[in-house]
Amino acid sequence: MEKFAVLGCGVVGSGVVELFEKNKALIEKRCGKSLALGYILDLRDFPDRPYGDKVVKNIDVILADKDVTVVAECMGGVEPAFTFVKSCLEAGKSVSTSNKELVAKKGDILLQTAKEHNVNFFFEASVGGAIPIIRPMHKCLAANAFSAVAGILNGTTNFILNKMICDDMDFAAALKLAQELGYAEKDPTADVEGHDACRKICILSSLAFGKHVYPESVYTKGIREVELKDTKLCEQLGYAIKLIAQVKALENGKILPTVMPMAVKNTNLLSQVNDVFNAVMTDTDGADRSMFYGRGAGKFPTASAVLGDMIEQFQLDGTICAQTWESAENTDFIEDFSAFAAKRYFRTSAADVKLLAEVLGDVDEKTISTDEDETVCIVNTEMNAAQVDAAVKALAQKGVQVLAQYPVLE
Ligand code: HSE
Repeated sequence: MEKFAVLGCGVVGSGVVELFEKNKALIEKRCGKSLALGYILDLRDFPDRPYGDKVVKNIDVILADKDVTVVAECMGGVEPAFTFVKSCLEAGKSVSTSNKELVAKKGDILLQTAKEHNVNFFFEASVGGAIPIIRPMHKCLAANAFSAVAGILNGTTNFILNKMICDDMDFAAALKLAQELGYAEKDPTADVEGHDACRKICILSSLAFGKHVYPESVYTKGIREVELKDTKLCEQLGYAIKLIAQVKALENGKILPTVMPMAVKNTNLLSQVNDVFNAVMTDTDGADRSMFYGRGAGKFPTASAVLGDMIEQFQLDGTICAQTWESAENTDFIEDFSAFAAKRYFRTSAADVKLLAEVLGDVDEKTISTDEDETVCIVNTEMNAAQVDAAVKALAQKGVQVLAQYPVLE
């Protein structure tokens, strides 16, 4: 009988235990062995729950038990999760985690530690919840070179933007509803400011391009400033404003990871990802475009991914060498955000079409609409941040104010 331990009995940790108990027979059949929950590490007691007697408060109990071969880390945060996970790997136990902050900040070290001890560090649940994306990227698509990965990787912000687009709610009202429904935390900073999506694109970038991308290297802008007006106007033009986390391979050999609200054209499937759902789109040389879609958060969707990893650990005997990436000694391989260029959505104070075309370049005439106060349009010329700044200044000199602008994702 092999045993597993769960570190942290919050939403995800309790989900892992409950889903395991519910599907124990089929999980054991798929693993070909008998399995049992050995321990739950948590500072709290759970006397009313069926697994209350499994709770321990000291990691050493788990480390010392040779029958525990697999550990699920569902604590969140970097410490003490990092110390505990590293100790488990060093003690010869494979680890599955749902903790994106841990993987985004310390993934390279933990992957190396796992390799040195012939065990595995898996993290399917850290990006996109239940969506299979880590394993497809490092296994199914392993024959391909990646040119881009783009996704909606945060359910809370997607829910908020969707409410703005579909139900005419402003940002504050949509955020309040997200909190009432339990999607957004009391302190919604990590979701709303894009930090959560940033951690997830760090993980996907590291996996796709083989070098650790740390959160500090990613240009990150959240959705707090998105106005209801722009979500509506974009919709009328055939675009949806979405928080897009993406990474692109550039011709100069560098990569450019970003997180920011973008106007996604309605011919792009990402524009159709609504509510709290997540999706990831990969562009590769062999497989071309692939799309992965599903529930990016929640107790059982996330537990499903953690348990999927654990099941593979039980089936395996030893390290999977391919599941790794290098530490990055410098960030030379990451392009500066100033190089990011895209077509743009502009909302300005009322402006003459000729004037806009003169300053902004190739304005798509079909998209121009002006009322007494304002003009909106899509510019087909790719503009980088410096060009946008120059255009804003040039328009201001001619008495036209830029009220909002978003890069376009086609
Ligand atoms: N807060 C995250 C989200 C949870 O809303 O997507 C899953 O990582």
